[in-house]
Amino acid sequence: MKLAVIGTGYVGLVAGVCFAETGSDVMCVDVDEAKVQRLRDGELTIYEPGLDRLFDRNRREERLLFTCDLQEAVEFAEIIFLALPTPAGEDGSADLSYVLRASEDIGRLLDDYKVIVTKSTVPVGTADAVREAVARHARHEFDVASNPEFLREGVAVDDFLRRSASLWA
Ligand SMILES: NC(=O)c1ccc[n+]([C@@H]2O[C@H](COP(=O)([O-])OP(=O)(O)OC[C@H]3O[C@@H](n4cnc5c(N)ncnc54)[C@H](O)[C@@H]3O)[C@@H](O)[C@H]2O)c1
Repeated sequence: MKLAVIGTGYVGLVAGVCFAETGSDVMCVDVDEAKVQRLRDGELTIYEPGLDRLFDRNRREERLLFTCDLQEAVEFAEIIFLALPTPAGEDGSADLSYVLRASEDIGRLLDDYKVIVTKSTVPVGTADAVREAVARHARHEFDVASNPEFLREGVAVDDFLRRSASLWA
């Protein structure tokens, strides 16, 4: 399975590495060029116990790629995960602008059927907003799914892999 993860912060990087560890080909995208370059050079940008070994192995086995080019990632992937920031606004509600802007961009770039999955922490109803944002420019069919991330920093790899293993079982 070919996957893209948009946003290579805490959640996106753990998800990307762990998806690769379970056998998928993963392309991680970030707008932060310095971060992408460090990851390409083999330098982890977060500390998370156990992540370094999986990162090294999956880079070496060429299942884990990093890019700033959203188009490259959209064309590469069958499933696109959004792991973008959703900072709390002044009233405490999640700012969905990163997620919705990326969704519009993905809609413009769709070259085939894809599934777009939100991993960010978002309120109920966001899948409908993502669907509308993608559809605004999309010329291909797509589906939207929600797969919110509940990993805890410090035990994120274990959280992620254990949960995935129980899902696949
Ligand atoms: N960190 C956690 O422990 C945790 C746990 C569960 C859920 N979450 C949720 O997951 C989501 C992501 O959180 P995080 O901690 O990984 O955030 P983060 O700030 O660590 O990472 C976000 C990344 O997205 C990148 N980015 C911003 N705009 C982009 C764009 N248009 N295209 C590509 N990349 C872009 C940033 O450069 C950054 O690297 C949030 O909704 C958060 O609430 C976080």
